[in-house]
Amino acid sequence: MSPSLVETYQARTPRSAAMFERAAASLPGGSTRTTIYSAPYPPYMVRGAGLRTWDVDGNEYRDFLGNYTSLILGHAHPEVVAAVEAQVRRGSAFAAPTEAEIELAEVIRARMPSIERIRFTNSGTEATMFALRAARAFTGRSLLAKFELAYHGTHDIAVAWTPGVPKATGDLVLELPWGDPEGVERVLAGRERDLAAIIIEPVQGAGGVRVATPEFLRFLRELTTRIGALLIFDEVIAFRIGPNGAQGRLGGVRPDLTTLGKIIGGGYPSGAFGGREDVMAQFDARRAGALVHGGTFNGNPVSAAAGLATLRHLTPARYAELERLGDRLRTSLGDGMARAGLDARVGGIASIFQVFPGTSLVPPDGMSPQAALFIGLLLDGFHLAPRGMGALSTPGTDADVDELAAAVLARLSAMRAVAAG
Ligand SMILES: Cc1ncc(COP(=O)(O)O)c(C=O)c1O
Repeated sequence: MSPSLVETYQARTPRSAAMFERAAASLPGGSTRTTIYSAPYPPYMVRGAGLRTWDVDGNEYRDFLGNYTSLILGHAHPEVVAAVEAQVRRGSAFAAPTEAEIELAEVIRARMPSIERIRFTNSGTEATMFALRAARAFTGRSLLAKFELAYHGTHDIAVAWTPGVPKATGDLVLELPWGDPEGVERVLAGRERDLAAIIIEPVQGAGGVRVATPEFLRFLRELTTRIGALLIFDEVIAFRIGPNGAQGRLGGVRPDLTTLGKIIGGGYPSGAFGGREDVMAQFDARRAGALVHGGTFNGNPVSAAAGLATLRHLTPARYAELERLGDRLRTSLGDGMARAGLDARVGGIASIFQVFPGTSLVPPDGMSPQAALFIGLLLDGFHLAPRGMGALSTPGTDADVDELAAAVLARLSAMRAVAAG
């Protein structure tokens, strides 16, 4: 009997297995980040350069996840490393502001006119948490609405219906149907005057790289304006789809607030929320009763330097090249699936993509198709998210994309063969 996918993975990753076991003595479940755990254990990485990473066992991967979309220039890009090194030598953080945060704010504002004022955080989670709090404070209303399958991080409102979050908090969060104006109105009916904000990812990440239509975003803009609620675009992931983010691309709808993260830190911890001057003025510490926004590492100059180097490198031509590669990948996957009659599909936009294996595919060993695809691709030397999402980075080439497509198609076909057999 040939070894299973998991057995083959285990045979190739004994050092990762040992590290995972060691980790479990200190970290619950051997992990400190839910989104990077995968059974039986994830590969432990030691190094990354460009598109490539290497794990502790010396296995080489082409990284098509880029730390969940944040490494848009790949690993250890020379311009980012130089900017970070220069800043680290000058000092890593001060109990005082630096010019780096002003420059990053200016670069972001120049790209997103809806961001009249901005504040930096350490993560996308903090960004959405503060944006939602700002909306509540500004409107004097408590109710918030987000979309089915949305992911806005891990604060109480973002995960409103999980254990540990008081029911009272969950009761103040509504779930809206995606892309369905009538459904949205139905959920909000009678509660419009209680609603502080609707938050939406214009391109859902965790929800399966779903892209909102300009018409739907326009509907939300008109609705929120009419009922006196704020519209928040969570562009923590979506900002990477073009120089002006999703809001510059999907119909030009102007949100009241925007949240950012991932690429604005150039691979280092960062996040931001910004938007209308009158809403953001609530954080102006010169005002009586200003909203508190402490944070030992807010506006951290190392992250700001990395983010600035990244955004400066991302010229419109580089975005266009990333999009061309994304289109090439989606086309070859889609064509290949159709040609082979595979129960699978591919989605995405610009440099973000998602592979969806269909339920009729049956991998061996009782694994889910997603899990089998994830481990199978690791064995082929490709790193995607366990749920099938991926992101392109600038070091990727046509050959990298073509070889990924071929590997995905082969892994999916093998599952069908098992199903047929
Ligand atoms: C759309 C979106 N919002 C917020 C977050 C949370 O960001 P972070 O993981 O930096 O807290 C994420 C993370 O993946 C995200 O995809």
